[in-house]
Amino acid sequence: MITDDLDLAKNILNSGGVIAIPTETVYGLAGNAMDTNSIASIFRIKNRPYFNPLIAHIGEIEQLKSLCNTIPVEAQKLIDAFWPGPLTLVLSKKKSVPNLLTSGLDKVAVRMPSHPLTLKLLKSIKYPLAAPSANPYKYVSPTSAQHVESQLGSAIPLILDGGQCKIGLESTIIGFEDNDVVIYRLGGLAIESIEEVLKKPIAIKTKSESDMLPGQEKKHYSPGKKIVLIPFAGALPSLVSPDVLITWKPQESSHKSISLDGSDISGASRIFSLLRELDNPQIGKIFIELAPEKGLGKAINDRLMRAAYPF
Ligand code: TXA
Ligand code: MG
Repeated sequence: MITDDLDLAKNILNSGGVIAIPTETVYGLAGNAMDTNSIASIFRIKNRPYFNPLIAHIGEIEQLKSLCNTIPVEAQKLIDAFWPGPLTLVLSKKKSVPNLLTSGLDKVAVRMPSHPLTLKLLKSIKYPLAAPSANPYKYVSPTSAQHVESQLGSAIPLILDGGQCKIGLESTIIGFEDNDVVIYRLGGLAIESIEEVLKKPIAIKTKSESDMLPGQEKKHYSPGKKIVLIPFAGALPSLVSPDVLITWKPQESSHKSISLDGSDISGASRIFSLLRELDNPQIGKIFIELAPEKGLGKAINDRLMRAAYPF
């Protein structure tokens, strides 16, 4: 059922059920983050392997105390600047946080989403919500209630409808290692904005094949089609029907564009619905022009490269 009834949503969550919730980034598949049965249901519905941990969503900063031991000074600066918003922090976890949530890691990922409906829901319950993106494992993340309905509608009792996701890319994930601030996932908050607050450059932590870092699978966001990426402003291919060309900005020679006006904000909000539309048997090869490598363009390119893998 697609509804905006918060009481219904709350009742299902309170009895250990799993529902879909809107956030400003993407829709999440949510359950009680402190209840191992609810967490296990999320993994099962999403068909997600248990080694890939979930983010805990909170409605009040106070709740952090129940999840983590210490908050590094730089984490606090980021919380002050960007919460509620598209930023997830990976912090040292309290023993009481279920190991199933963190896949056995001693750190827990936490964020406070800014979507008003979900923030209201979070403030009205006594526990954080575990919520991965509400898509089957490895598929494109949902940015509308209808996206969730089309794939997980029969597996969950309720989809809380909060309209289109404003940002459209998952949260940026930041960790703290020794004295370094590192990025685990590019996302809806631009690195440049984070660096401006911390007043120093930060590094992107990439994994080598042997060193499995959660959530960094090369193949992800897949529309199940052959995608060929073109460098930004590079030479465009000659097309053979039924191939399609997606350019960064609207252009006469292309079928569609990622961004409507060339801005990264427009591109971010459209990229996942576009990838879903391309999951269509009538379409041949898909040529996609990458975004300029700045602001949210970096995260858009990250998603496009994973969607296209193996090239
Ligand atoms: O915007 C978002 O973050 C959305 C909305 C629903 O909040 N959620 C989301 O969740 O994207 P998910 O599960 O699709 O991606 C969470 C990522 C995964 O790549 C996971 O591996 C990583 O966060 N993660 C979770 N806990 C972690 C931890 N303790 N250490 C390192 N990475 C962690
Ligand atoms: Mg996901």
